[in-house]
Amino acid sequence: MDKIIINGNRRLNGEITVQGAKNSVLPILVATLLVNGISVIHNCPVLSDVEATIKILQYLGCKVTRDGHTVTVDSTNVNRNDVPDNLMREMRSSIVFLGGILGRMGKAVLSTPGGCEIGLRPIDLHLSSMEQFGATITTENGFLVCSAEEKGLTGTRITLSFPSVGATENIILAAVLAKGTTIITNAAREPEISDLADFLNRCGARIHGAGDSTVTIEGVNGLHSTEHTVIPDRIVASTYMIAAAMTNGKICLRDIIPAHIGPTIQPLREAGCDVTVSGRWVCLSAPPKLKRIRMIRTMPYPGFPTDVQAQMMALTTICEGTSVIVENIFESRFKHIGELLRFGARINVEGRMAVIEGVKHLNGANVRATDLRGGSAMFLAGLNAYGTTEITEIHHIDRGYESPEKVLGELGADIKRVTDDEKN
Ligand code: UD1
Repeated sequence: MDKIIINGNRRLNGEITVQGAKNSVLPILVATLLVNGISVIHNCPVLSDVEATIKILQYLGCKVTRDGHTVTVDSTNVNRNDVPDNLMREMRSSIVFLGGILGRMGKAVLSTPGGCEIGLRPIDLHLSSMEQFGATITTENGFLVCSAEEKGLTGTRITLSFPSVGATENIILAAVLAKGTTIITNAAREPEISDLADFLNRCGARIHGAGDSTVTIEGVNGLHSTEHTVIPDRIVASTYMIAAAMTNGKICLRDIIPAHIGPTIQPLREAGCDVTVSGRWVCLSAPPKLKRIRMIRTMPYPGFPTDVQAQMMALTTICEGTSVIVENIFESRFKHIGELLRFGARINVEGRMAVIEGVKHLNGANVRATDLRGGSAMFLAGLNAYGTTEITEIHHIDRGYESPEKVLGELGADIKRVTDDEKN
């Protein structure tokens, strides 16, 4: 297995372009299933989750090619409605294939998805929503069979008890070609939902209100070929800003959508960082010593993102004083804490609350990536730490960060990836 090795305690300095958003590109690739033609998607990051999605599209009959960061999907000949267990298990977000396949084929046969182990991650909202469109759901040999073959999908009113990102995406995907109008109340408002709707609307869908809590989708008869550019990844942008903050560094992110990272900028300013926003640029300059962040609570967008909780916790380990972080979205998203303690961090946990007492600096350690964002907390801690850090199980990191060692290396970090071949 590959490893990342970091010699820490070096200031990061420079400008970067942030990769396209993983959480946008995955549902958008699934949405290409609904198009009777060719979709050209620009700014697709090279990530294992994206490659897993492409494999499923190919299994379903799509022709998919990649040229750098552009992925072209020809969905003219989709001829299957099932996803095998091994492909389904590669990632949690494969559940959005439910709405995509059902919308295209009228029937979807899927096993339950895999993904990060950060909680129970049930799919009840996804399933009950599909039933509200008139689909029937049964289980056969461990597979979910979701069928609307007899009457087709009919637009409906759906009120979500929680603004689930994936359930909102599944509803949009199922509604686009359904008969009549669908109205979602308490929809997720994440920027990735708006990006999915933008792509679909370019193809001829009629989606209004994406990004608000009420979304209306008028069903259309078909979708046509288009091109689309995926938005920059706000979680990756936040991670690299935190990297600069933890190394007394200075970073500028070019071609970003600043509003999307507003919830991360606010606590970084509280910690004493100077953050300036100008057009599509965001620059951060860190003070020699960071101040504590009184309280961070993860919330649905536009609240503080759960996907930046682990990284912000890495930062608070070196803030002066005591910081508190409450995880409200996933019930067991604290696996990185055990690894942060190896760097000399002082963290106490009570239920969903972590109390972090800042130390002067971290010390290099041998750690593992426990999950995707927990893994990025490891390289952040390693960048600050005195001495050498070795991170194993980095396949988790590769699900969401494209070549982090290259990006951080360009900013001045002493970081390298050691592949199996080099070790042997
Ligand atoms: C998406 C993101 C993930 C992010 C999360 C929350 C993608 C590919 N992934 O995941 O990076 O951490 O949003 O911002 O976009 N829930 C239920 N029943 C359901 C569905 C969800 O109880 O049917 C619960 C979950 O267990 C969790 C909460 O709702 O506690 C949030 O989940 P959800 O918004 O659905 O997250 P994902 O779409 O899985």
